[in-house]
Amino acid sequence: MNDSELDLVHTGPETLAGRYLRSFWQPIYRAEDLPAGRALPIKVMNEDFTLYRGESGSPHLVAFRCAHRGTQLSTGWVEDDCLRCLYHGWKYDGSGQCVEQPGEDEGFAAKVRIRSYPVREYLGLIFAYLGDGEPPPLRRYPDYERPGILVAMPPETWACNYFNRLDNDADGFHVLFTHRESISRAGRMSIYQDRNVSSEETSYGVRTAITNPGQPTDYLRAVMPNVNQIRVRTGQASADTTSVWEERMTWAVPITDERSLRFEVNHVRLDGAAAEAYLERYQRERAKPVQANELGDRVLAGAVRIPELDRGMSTYELFRVEDYATEVGQGVIADRSQERLGRIDVGVILRRKLWFRELRALAEGRPLQEWVIPEGMADWGS
Ligand code: FES
Ligand SMILES: [Fe+2]
Repeated sequence: MNDSELDLVHTGPETLAGRYLRSFWQPIYRAEDLPAGRALPIKVMNEDFTLYRGESGSPHLVAFRCAHRGTQLSTGWVEDDCLRCLYHGWKYDGSGQCVEQPGEDEGFAAKVRIRSYPVREYLGLIFAYLGDGEPPPLRRYPDYERPGILVAMPPETWACNYFNRLDNDADGFHVLFTHRESISRAGRMSIYQDRNVSSEETSYGVRTAITNPGQPTDYLRAVMPNVNQIRVRTGQASADTTSVWEERMTWAVPITDERSLRFEVNHVRLDGAAAEAYLERYQRERAKPVQANELGDRVLAGAVRIPELDRGMSTYELFRVEDYATEVGQGVIADRSQERLGRIDVGVILRRKLWFRELRALAEGRPLQEWVIPEGMADWGS
């Protein structure tokens, strides 16, 4: 099997990429969006589930359908830490065990169990382990546990395969063109003549260094398998005195093979009044879900051009629209067989190489690489 025959894009439970992604804990929902006592249908990697939060506050993830006659469990109601089916009232606990069946003989319920999945809340997100067997320990991101403020952004649904997003994680060159409008609105110039990008394999994946003449080197960290870590200056405008450095981590998680969810957490090392000012600015500019997909689709349809977009938009939102236009613009599932890769694509090539290496190991039953997230990864220059 050569690399081009390894399928990176399909993530159903039987696929190689799907099995690989399922060997990691994945974010599936933003914690603050799931109130106690609420049940929801969710789809992750082409599979349906029921996510609910018990009255005690603990989240649970169980099968999509009731074991009795298969109705959708999310339509039922939460009782304590259990979920009762809307159709005939079978009740399940968070482990999927049926604990009550109105009208049935005692003893039947004990024989019925639906699948359940381990979940944990971490960094403002709900993570689940959807793979087979014992879950590995929850992966920790030590830099995001440091003192400061952590904000989990409203997740966004993008109308493309998750790998369009992953390719972008290690693409240090696109910023100058894709984000030209954002950069120019912020009063800065795109410098591209001498921009140099280089990538290397690290303990966590791929680090891409971006070097512009006369400026400090910047880094993109493509963390295996589907995480990205960067450092971003809020506001971008040079005259913006409240601008601060954010350490940003994003996950691209397939919903189906044609749609993906983007989770984002931002960490800033501020306290006291500076922290309050940051949160106040966050509430003003970003607490509402951005309209990147709607606006990005209009750009792709030719209904509006990026420079014509509302000048009142925040830089943050404009960046999302610009990325959406290019990444969804590659096609819902990008046709990689037609690409003409060059020198600027070193990061993309290397990240895919690591994926191919891991998928091949998985296919051949060899151990997978244990990626290590070092403390201090988010710091400048590491
Ligand atoms: S289908 Fe759920 S109790 Fe009958
Ligand atoms: Fe971008």
